[in-house]
Amino acid sequence: MLQIILLLLPAVVSDQWSVCYPPSICAARGSNVTINCTFTYPPENDIKQVLWCSMRSNNGKCHYQPYVYDSEANNSQSFQYIGDKTSDCSLLISNINQAHSGEYRFRFITNKKDGRWTGDPGVNISVHDLRVSMCRSRENGSTIPGDSLILTCTLNCSGSLAEVQWFKNGDPIQQSEPVLTFSRITAEDSGNYSCSLRNFKTTVSEEFSIYIEDVAGSPTVLIIVVSLFSLVFITAAVMLIRSKSCLVNQAYTNLPEAKDVQQEDEVEYSSVNIKPKEMLQM
Ligand SMILES: *[C@@H]1O[C@H](CO)[C@@H](O)[C@H](O)[C@H]1NC(C)=O
Ligand SMILES: *[C@@H]1O[C@H](CO)[C@@H](O)[C@H](O)[C@H]1NC(C)=O
Ligand SMILES: *[C@@H]1O[C@H](CO)[C@@H](O)[C@H](O)[C@H]1NC(C)=O
Ligand SMILES: *[C@@H]1O[C@H](CO)[C@@H](O)[C@H](O)[C@H]1NC(C)=O
Ligand SMILES: *[C@@H]1O[C@H](CO)[C@@H](O)[C@H](O)[C@H]1NC(C)=O
Ligand SMILES: *[C@@H]1O[C@H](CO)[C@@H](O)[C@H](O)[C@H]1NC(C)=O
Ligand SMILES: *[C@@H]1O[C@H](CO)[C@@H](O)[C@H](O)[C@H]1NC(C)=O
Repeated sequence: MLQIILLLLPAVVSDQWSVCYPPSICAARGSNVTINCTFTYPPENDIKQVLWCSMRSNNGKCHYQPYVYDSEANNSQSFQYIGDKTSDCSLLISNINQAHSGEYRFRFITNKKDGRWTGDPGVNISVHDLRVSMCRSRENGSTIPGDSLILTCTLNCSGSLAEVQWFKNGDPIQQSEPVLTFSRITAEDSGNYSCSLRNFKTTVSEEFSIYIEDVAGSPTVLIIVVSLFSLVFITAAVMLIRSKSCLVNQAYTNLPEAKDVQQEDEVEYSSVNIKPKEMLQM
């Protein structure tokens, strides 16, 4: 019986002083991140001071300054305490960036002697840039019209993203899926693509450039065009050789005809009535 009580006792005691954090947090640079947090302590205590420290700047155990948030000091605008002095210790980090990556711990101090507690270990936050990655049907060489191509908006430390906003040359496009599919790409799809989280335009990724050569410039089309031209050329050449003698005559008769038209114009201007018959004799 006594053994059971002794086994239970430590659990009860540590339950009284505790800080509960979420599992590690993956954040997109430029977003606002909430660390949802709760804390408990023995009932006879009243909370006097609440503190948050970053283990990046606080090399100790969070017992001393610097703090990213201190309820008894002026704090950076990036860190807002959205909790209270009873059980909610949530912290909001706005416009987060890579320099905010690291471990964070919550500390609280009560009105009782030795009434102080730090939640150790804390919560890890890793901050990454959103990125556009590409997957395409053609392995080698440049993408040509008709190929399929997929752009994906990714955050290195996270699984698939929920709602995103895509941009083409900086202008928003109607697509909230993190995957942008071009089943048959065209030259008009060329452009600089980027993405951001739906509600945080500040998380916008670097631009990803897609260049699709115009139809006439694409190798397949080029080959067809070149082949067609060759065919016409060869045919023309063959015909030219076969009808060489004929052609001389034709050229002779064609020449006056051409002059005919010219002369007819002159006829109108000068109002002299000259018959085409005379012209043909020239
Ligand atoms: C924190 O809690 C709020 C509401 O309680 C919820 O909307 C939000 O998604 C939570 N954040 C995380 C990172 O779990
Ligand atoms: C906070 O800032 C105000 C004015 O900016 C100043 O009067 C006050 O002393 C500061 N408080 C602390 C704890 O630094
Ligand atoms: C992010 O937090 C800042 C500071 O609290 C606030 O001004 C801004 O509106 C927030 N952005 C969003 C999208 O909630
Ligand atoms: C946070 O990350 C550091 C370094 O990667 C690791 O040593 C530590 O155990 C992590 N802490 C938590 C609470 O996950
Ligand atoms: C792509 O090129 C690499 C080397 O340049 C070659 O090993 C590979 O077989 C090519 N793949 C295709 C599908 O042509
Ligand atoms: C993404 O993570 C991998 C390893 O997980 C790393 O090698 C790479 O540099 C990271 N990329 C970015 C952009 O953070
Ligand atoms: C895309 O970006 C490149 C370099 O970043 C720039 O030279 C090009 O003009 C951009 N294209 C468009 C259509 O904005």
